[in-house]
Amino acid sequence: MTKISPSVLSADFANLGADCRAVLDAGADMIHFDVMDGHFVDNISFGLPVLEGLRKALPEAYFDVHLMISDPLAYASAFAAAGADCITFHVEADSDVAATIAAIRACGCGAGLSLRPATPAEALFPYLDGLSIVLVMGVEPGHGGQSFQPAALDKLRKFQAECARRGIHPDLSVDGGVKYATTAPQCVEAGATLLVAGSAVFCAEDMAGAVRQFKSL
Ligand code: DX5
Ligand code: ZN
Repeated sequence: MTKISPSVLSADFANLGADCRAVLDAGADMIHFDVMDGHFVDNISFGLPVLEGLRKALPEAYFDVHLMISDPLAYASAFAAAGADCITFHVEADSDVAATIAAIRACGCGAGLSLRPATPAEALFPYLDGLSIVLVMGVEPGHGGQSFQPAALDKLRKFQAECARRGIHPDLSVDGGVKYATTAPQCVEAGATLLVAGSAVFCAEDMAGAVRQFKSL
């Protein structure tokens, strides 16, 4: 069954704990936590103390942390200590990719690797064997509510084929512009096993209903 990871970037920050509780109660598999440093991307979101607070409020939740920051190696252990279960970073970041994956795993977290829309799938191939999540961006990272770029579907297919060839099973995740009535079914058809959705969940009138729609895909 397809997993859903609602992105709290579109949640109500004045009621973050309650929003996370609502989507988890509705069947969300995990919480997607988007960290932006104003350098790797032009936006600034939230960081360590917010994750620490959510971890305390939701001790049993699985936190899928997406680092859109320039130096993920420098922060991997701090995000693990703050409560991350899986830490995804970008292949385009400044840190050494293999060393960052090793550092994340040494903290007991799953490691994920992501790529911007302009980066070819093959850029991740040297690292695929050690990954828990391959995160294909459907939009340029930095903001919620953008339109899905269909080229992400080809990338998902490439990753699905390469993982099958190697006999490995990381979650194939897609993030940005994922809507349950339109782009989500296309992503699932292209091999996605883990859907990240921000505005489609947290801006819906019925958040719990939106999660259930995604879970039915
Ligand atoms: C974008 C973030 C996404 C974002 C997705 O840079 O990584 O996780 O919250 O938002 P939607 O689902 O609204 O496109
Ligand atoms: Zn994200």
